[in-house]
Amino acid sequence: MRQQAHGGNLVWAAALAGCPPSAILDFSASISPLGPPNSVLAAIGSQLSSIRNYPDPDCSDLRNALSHFHNLPSEWILPGNGSAELLSLAGRELAELAATVLITPAFGDYYRALAAYDAKVLEFSLLVNGQLSVVSSQLSGVSCQESVVSGQLSAVRSQWSGVSGQGLVVSGQESVAMNDLSSIINKGQRTTDNKQLTTNNEQRTTDNGQQTTDKGIILNNPHNPTGRLFGRDAILPYLEEFALVVVDEAFMDFLPPDEEQSLVEFVQDYPNLVILRSLTKFYSLPGLRLGYALAHPDRLQRWRSWRDPWSVNTLASVAGVAALADKEFQAQTWKWLPPARNQLFEGLSQIPGLQPLPGIANFLLVQCEHSCIELQQRLLKQHQILIRDCQSFPELGDRAFRVAVKTPQENERLLKALNGELGVMSYEL
Ligand SMILES: Cc1ncc(COP(=O)(O)O)c(C=O)c1O
Repeated sequence: MRQQAHGGNLVWAAALAGCPPSAILDFSASISPLGPPNSVLAAIGSQLSSIRNYPDPDCSDLRNALSHFHNLPSEWILPGNGSAELLSLAGRELAELAATVLITPAFGDYYRALAAYDAKVLEFSLLVNGQLSVVSSQLSGVSCQESVVSGQLSAVRSQWSGVSGQGLVVSGQESVAMNDLSSIINKGQRTTDNKQLTTNNEQRTTDNGQQTTDKGIILNNPHNPTGRLFGRDAILPYLEEFALVVVDEAFMDFLPPDEEQSLVEFVQDYPNLVILRSLTKFYSLPGLRLGYALAHPDRLQRWRSWRDPWSVNTLASVAGVAALADKEFQAQTWKWLPPARNQLFEGLSQIPGLQPLPGIANFLLVQCEHSCIELQQRLLKQHQILIRDCQSFPELGDRAFRVAVKTPQENERLLKALNGELGVMSYEL
């Protein structure tokens, strides 16, 4: 069976489960279970007859709505066919630089977008000594930058590969550290301080004199697959150090305005900053494809010249305008997520052999004592439930999986199925 690079492949899952795609309960794609909002469906319905015309190549209405939403002039906004399209355009720009730093485990599409243009990649692992939980308390610009500039990157990676069979190592003490971090995050506090920023700014060259100013960096915040949130101040120093900083905020909208750590307010201050946002996860529109980039107008103009003039279709554009205006749906989502995520987290923690990592987004990464590939197949065949294996994150291997947070009833169905299948798998050992 060929493993999937992305979640949400229902055709593949249904073939394995022996049922129609519509019968699959999908926890593998991190999509809100609440949408699409009725306002969006109504807007799409009202514009169906417009598909006989070409879409507006400027996406004027959508850009105006986004301009209002982010309080940013519309020239700084470029909608795309999902944020995945914009990621490819970012990959083309990053490939022009000496190298691009990737924070791993990294979303698989970053490799695709960079490889498509032969970009050189430098990987920096979030894992220290193979332990994700330790590192998650050090999500600061300094720790990452130090590893890159001091040439320790390969050492970190080889240390990691020595323990890769163990997957995520989470001991009791380290779990406390993670909980501390998540309480810091929940209170909206910063994960770095000014001293660290100063240190970071001083370190602009590697030990052997290699510069970071001719390199790019791409990271996502909140981080997929760990669900951790980088404080704004952890990322800001990169803007002084790297030629191009691409921040993928595909899941940032799941945090309410008083908790999010978006860099949108800094876009006009830094021409080397690109922010990618998605409208497919929060508003449940992955099949429609809609995302946008926020960046300097000259850069966005260049991107437009590289791509198809009509990559955002008419229905996606009207859906975006309606979604951004739907304050009720946004409030409902912010109310649903924390208790539903807690319910799932607590339920997973109680299943022998599973250890979920606390996360801030609408998904949870789970360490598992058993083979997740086997678990995935059992869940599909016996329960028509699809979880996300982590094979596309090589650092995580076969001992971790990711699940979306869904409705309380759906979460309960997953927990029950996991309990049953893991019980059988333990018995068979
Ligand atoms: C971190 C991250 N960025 C971007 C994307 C792409 O999202 P979109 O549907 O907007 O193309 C995904 C999709 O899974 C993702 O996980």
